[in-house]
Amino acid sequence: MPSGTMLLDAVVLDDDDKIQELFRGTTDCMSLAQGVVFWQPPTQALEKIKESVFSPSVSNYGPDDGIPELKTALLHKLRSENKLTKSSVMVTAGANQAFVSLVLTLCDAGDSVVMFTPYYFNAYMSFQMTGVTDILVGPSDPETLQPDADWLETILAPEDNKGTPKVVTVVNPGNPSGTYIPQHLLQRISALCSKAGAWLLVDNTYEYFMFDGLQHSCIEGDHIVNIFSFSKAYGMMGWRIGYIAYPSNVDGLGAQLLKVQDNIPICPSIIGQKLALFSMEVGPVWVRKNVEKLTKNIEIVKEALAPLGKEAVKGGEAAIYLWVKLPQNARDDVAVVEWLAKKHSVMVIPGSASGGPGHIRVSFGGLPEDSCRLAAARLRTGLEQLVTQGLS
Ligand SMILES: Cc1ncc(COP(=O)(O)O)c(C=O)c1O
Repeated sequence: MPSGTMLLDAVVLDDDDKIQELFRGTTDCMSLAQGVVFWQPPTQALEKIKESVFSPSVSNYGPDDGIPELKTALLHKLRSENKLTKSSVMVTAGANQAFVSLVLTLCDAGDSVVMFTPYYFNAYMSFQMTGVTDILVGPSDPETLQPDADWLETILAPEDNKGTPKVVTVVNPGNPSGTYIPQHLLQRISALCSKAGAWLLVDNTYEYFMFDGLQHSCIEGDHIVNIFSFSKAYGMMGWRIGYIAYPSNVDGLGAQLLKVQDNIPICPSIIGQKLALFSMEVGPVWVRKNVEKLTKNIEIVKEALAPLGKEAVKGGEAAIYLWVKLPQNARDDVAVVEWLAKKHSVMVIPGSASGGPGHIRVSFGGLPEDSCRLAAARLRTGLEQLVTQGLS
């Protein structure tokens, strides 16, 4: 069998696809599964975009790396909000395309790369799809779910230089962990990567999704690439706009990224970029107001998870997820997810899709409070039954 077909098989058989299939096959199922937010882009921005649709420039190809006015706004944002002062920017068709483009740019087939469990399944699949077969999955601290930097140090140890991983990737805040990486830990991970000559890719898709007064921070360096997204912050999932902040100093990196860009989206959708620009004009205060509404959802979903005990529930301090350990009598997460969908009409994601069997990922971002309450009530009923009777 040609290797391309084998790779495709691996991807098609992935748990995430199975879950999507299951969701399509159920009726009246409520979702605490999908990583989405319940809000739409700012009304002012949507109103403004109406005026743009007849402009010929919207229907033509644009510059590969993004329309100049959006790039200018993004550079300003990166400098003022993220303190990234030595980065150039490329607009992409979402953070996922940004990640695939970076893997294609930085890695060769057969390279080794590092990620931490529980990992973002699309990042794992991006490595698989592009022929990076040596995916080293490191542990996280069992309490904080933060990447284990001591383990990373051993993996990147200088005496082990022969097969030094090409890329280390972290998601901050984390999907599916629902926790964040504090600046001191990011700095330590960065220093280890720099010393070993490995790239560090940081996915900041949930940068604005911080709770309990916690602060998100970014770091930069000639070995660091940061990825961002408009999908969750501005409710722009379907508009497909994200961006890469890459080190300006590294010769040839921008040119290589452009080559990949020209072969995948050519350019991100122009109308999407215009909406991103108009949304940025409304700004992060608008985003934070929406994010704040999720604090109630966190409370509601945590309450639904109470039958599993406090110790079983992690996350909920950042991003839009809770990471939940299943009880001893029901450790098959895929079976539990199917049972919850079929018997209790509520959907969550199995942890094994993220390298965490025996867990489920619960999203609190996709439903407004009233619907979240309904979905959470179904989840609670299911979990109460699970704890007392198992999967009966
Ligand atoms: C960590 C992470 N990165 C990237 C994405 C995809 O973002 P985008 O819609 O910008 O491709 C998601 C979506 O769930 C995500 O959770």
